[in-house]
Amino acid sequence: MNTIFHQTNKILINELAGEKIWRVRLASPEIAAAVKPGQFCMLRVPGTRAPLLGRPLAIFRAENQAVDVVYAVVGKGTEQLAALVAGQDLEIWGPLGNGFPLAEDPAEWPTRPLLVAGGIGQTPMFLLARAFLNQPTTEKVTLLWGSRDRAHLACLADFEALAREFPGKLEIMNATDDGSFAYHGFVTDLEKAKLESGQFKPENACVYSCGPKPMLKIVADLAHKAGLKCWVSLETPMACGMGICFTCVTKCKDETAPEGWDYCRTCVEGPVFDAEKLIW
Ligand SMILES: Cc1cc2nc3c(=O)[nH]c(=O)nc-3n(C[C@H](O)[C@H](O)[C@H](O)COP(=O)(O)OP(=O)(O)OC[C@H]3O[C@@H](n4cnc5c(N)ncnc54)[C@H](O)[C@@H]3O)c2cc1C
Ligand code: FES
Repeated sequence: MNTIFHQTNKILINELAGEKIWRVRLASPEIAAAVKPGQFCMLRVPGTRAPLLGRPLAIFRAENQAVDVVYAVVGKGTEQLAALVAGQDLEIWGPLGNGFPLAEDPAEWPTRPLLVAGGIGQTPMFLLARAFLNQPTTEKVTLLWGSRDRAHLACLADFEALAREFPGKLEIMNATDDGSFAYHGFVTDLEKAKLESGQFKPENACVYSCGPKPMLKIVADLAHKAGLKCWVSLETPMACGMGICFTCVTKCKDETAPEGWDYCRTCVEGPVFDAEKLIW
């Protein structure tokens, strides 16, 4: 099991990054050094009893001894978070969860990774894209990212800067439901076209995805049809984030279980799962 750090640290930045989407930067040398792509943290406003529980959020960036989290304001916890300003304290524990599986030897990593994000699902993709881009064996990383409109493509500039840092190595393709930016339609249309292009083969490619569950199901079905391995990161609501309370369970295939499936805890056995192992 990873070491989990539980800290109350100073907010360095908490700023609007899109339509009701914020970026908070928190000093945390320990979590910044330890986090792996696809892992998450729990954030909690100290001293508050409502909500009492922390909120699970992916770690978007980790550098200069700080972590960035990008969050959509959807309810009480994220509303409280958005009201905080630089200099105030925030409770954080992490890194949590398994993260995207990457072999110990980078020579075994897929050379043509296909990243598919929907909505706020870009948040675990920055660290993943950077990890691949840092490997000389990576031919190219393709990020397909869909959102309801341009205003919800929060922190696109971070990905564009990453693409400039690695010229010709990071391809970013966006889709918007309303056509306000890039392709007019669903990100899964882009995935289908990419997979039909013949650039992604089982021997060199793998699909990594995060977004709403109905989208993940389509992403996984398309990958399956193309014969590609597919890893999906679930955003199941959580309470403890550390494997204790079982609020975050999802059904996983298990041949040893009497009914052929068992519950997995998204916070420890996930949030990243082999799409073939999930009962959708
Ligand atoms: C591993 C993981 C990583 C995540 N990473 C991010 C991230 O990087 N950025 C981000 O914006 N969000 C992320 N989420 C989702 C985030 O945790 C929730 O949006 C957040 O907990 C909502 O808290 P709240 O108090 O504002 O809303 P609440 O008051 O708890 O809920 C408001 C509304 O949102 C619904 N809701 C709450 N949580 C979820 C959820 N997980 N999925 C679908 N509906 C939900 C509730 O049913 C309710 O209708 C992640 C979730 C997980 C499990
Ligand atoms: S959130 Fe408590 S077990 Fe997963």
